[in-house]
Amino acid sequence: MNITLGTEDWWKGAVVYQIYPRSFADSDGDGIGDIPGITSKLDYLSDLGVDVLWLSPVYKSPQDDNGYDISDYQDIDPLFGTLDQMRELIEQTHQRGMKLVMDLVVNHTSDEHAWFIESASSKDNPKRDWYIWRDPRDGAEPNNWQSAFSGPAWRFDERTGQYFLHIFSSKQPDLNWENPDVREAVYAMMRWWLEQGVDGFRMDVINLISKEPGLPDGDGGSFHPNGPRMHEFLQEMNRNVLRDRGLITVGEMPGCSVEDARLYTDPSRHELNMVFTFEHMGLDVLPGGQKWDLKPLELTDLKQNLNAWQKGLESVGWNSLYWNNHDQPRIVSRWGNDAEHRVASAKAFGTVLHLMHGTPYVYQGEEFGMTNAHFTALEQYRDLEALNWAAEATGQGRPLESILASLAVKSRDNARTPVQWDSGPQAGFTTGDPWISVNSNCAEINAEAAVADPESVWHHYRALIGLRHTHAVVVNGDFNLLWPEDPQLFAYQRGLDGQTLTVVANLSNQPAELPEAVAGEAILGSPASSLGPWEAFVTLS
Ligand code: NOJ
Repeated sequence: MNITLGTEDWWKGAVVYQIYPRSFADSDGDGIGDIPGITSKLDYLSDLGVDVLWLSPVYKSPQDDNGYDISDYQDIDPLFGTLDQMRELIEQTHQRGMKLVMDLVVNHTSDEHAWFIESASSKDNPKRDWYIWRDPRDGAEPNNWQSAFSGPAWRFDERTGQYFLHIFSSKQPDLNWENPDVREAVYAMMRWWLEQGVDGFRMDVINLISKEPGLPDGDGGSFHPNGPRMHEFLQEMNRNVLRDRGLITVGEMPGCSVEDARLYTDPSRHELNMVFTFEHMGLDVLPGGQKWDLKPLELTDLKQNLNAWQKGLESVGWNSLYWNNHDQPRIVSRWGNDAEHRVASAKAFGTVLHLMHGTPYVYQGEEFGMTNAHFTALEQYRDLEALNWAAEATGQGRPLESILASLAVKSRDNARTPVQWDSGPQAGFTTGDPWISVNSNCAEINAEAAVADPESVWHHYRALIGLRHTHAVVVNGDFNLLWPEDPQLFAYQRGLDGQTLTVVANLSNQPAELPEAVAGEAILGSPASSLGPWEAFVTLS
């Protein structure tokens, strides 16, 4: 990194790369990616230029939700390797000047975690209160909360006659953060990981840990994010674990507004560096609907929303910038054009994202334009969210065709097909049978071909990452949206110390005319007064 930042805010100049280990690289032929597989690709990641690697969970887990159900926080699942291999990965990452972030999943554990097994064993077990147990209400669930993975958010335990809360699957019981022993156990575990050398945490659904007192019914069965003790818990965690260590922290926060995010990320409050917003990810959902109720994206909505986040966190707080992760469909298929304009539209979305104010996140495969899975049968899906919803929707009479149409657009499995490394068998991901099918476009779309082609999405992402590392205006400049009403162009300016960076992208399948001329010297693409489909350029003046 060439931009000079303090040891406390180095992450403002950084680009983070997310690895979903299960689908990244398989070293032992069992069809599931693993830690040695990641280590074998570190040179590739360092060539791309990213600064930080974030690993989705590799802890011991029954894998009900692909590792987001943890049964031992201080061990590695044998599927992925061993603790020694993890230590080797950390060391090798550091040797290449990169940092490593762990996924911290502490809203819930697995129901196979020793804490939950004890908690469930009797009503007077000392760990009973570590989870959220309630008596039945009128012989049924204690409240109307619905699980994020379909059905009620409560499971009845025959042995003790009470229900426990699970906002996610019934194998993911929610921890009771009201109990100080729970909090201290989590902090001790975090400190242990810091001793192993990790450089920060991505905190899974962290704004759900504080529950509304009394657990009241929610509108339409929704539970309440951002409960009353959220800031207190995060400040306590910061004091006990995070402060003054030069770490990077990002909280995943569904249902977090710009105003909430300002509080969570204001450095003087000592909570988190940044949060993942979900607002832009909801813009292609019918109002009042679920993620499966599809609606086309209006570019003006996207610009308006991102502008609000840019302006809202401009002077206080910090943004994280993302199109993709393991829970979202691939951007090039979702809002780009993964057919005749795949390369151009992947580059255009990359350009728009990377030059905004905030820390950009690249999700594995995004850097060379991987697409959605384009599955056509239920049997191809693996994700419990998709399969539970398909069963529920079938029960409600929704035709299979419509279910498959929604899954093809929105299922999380779209992002979870194996990374396409080369044009060989199973795209070079595994020598065995992959746990989920490799995309059939792997002969054309793969990392090896992209690295060899100077015009590829990969080289474009590398250039974008390079711009952040060399131009202070990309890191610290203010943000001004241009032409907010234009239905095709996403354009903005960044300004710092008299310098102006202008970014213009045509995010449409048709040519677009610029409403006014743009000044400056080209630093990416070719400035012009009219742009072809998905064409973009960047100037500096
Ligand atoms: C958010 C994670 O990103 C997602 O993959 C997971 O299913 C839920 N949290 C539950 O941990």
